[in-house]
Amino acid sequence: MALKSILIHPDPRLKKTCAPVADLNDELRTLADDMLQTMYDAPGIGLAAPQVGVTHRLIVLDCVKEADLAPRPLVMFNPEVIASSDEKNVYEEGCLSIPDQYGEVERPAEVTVRWLDQHGNEQQDGFSGLWATCVQHEIDHLDGVLFIDYLKPLRRQMITRKMQKLKRERARG
Ligand code: NI
Repeated sequence: MALKSILIHPDPRLKKTCAPVADLNDELRTLADDMLQTMYDAPGIGLAAPQVGVTHRLIVLDCVKEADLAPRPLVMFNPEVIASSDEKNVYEEGCLSIPDQYGEVERPAEVTVRWLDQHGNEQQDGFSGLWATCVQHEIDHLDGVLFIDYLKPLRRQMITRKMQKLKRERARG
């Protein structure tokens, strides 16, 4: 397995609509493993393929934060929200592509998601709490949507400027 480098906003690859995975091959399975390792290493609770520069519909997540609980890594190819609750939840969200910036986003409190697992089997499950927020945030990435797109324009511009500055600093070394 190998760690991937995570793209930082603003980057045109983070604004693309990703293509569905038609052929679930070993290359994509390895990518999913690498993404999980990259996510745990960051550390983060979710990562979408476009964040590592691959514009395919693939996300990974694990929202188990308690050290004494077993991890629950999920790999989802072509994930789709097929039902959402009317009830909403507000979470302070962050993103590995927008380091150290946070903002409150309102989303459906519960969602049902359908996806293909690593073996190409169709899976369906309901998510609530942090899991619901996380899976919706990651699926948004596959449509080029970032959590800051839900914030007020002024706040979004401020964050984007901070990220541009961060990228310039990193480029200088
Ligand atoms: Ni994100």
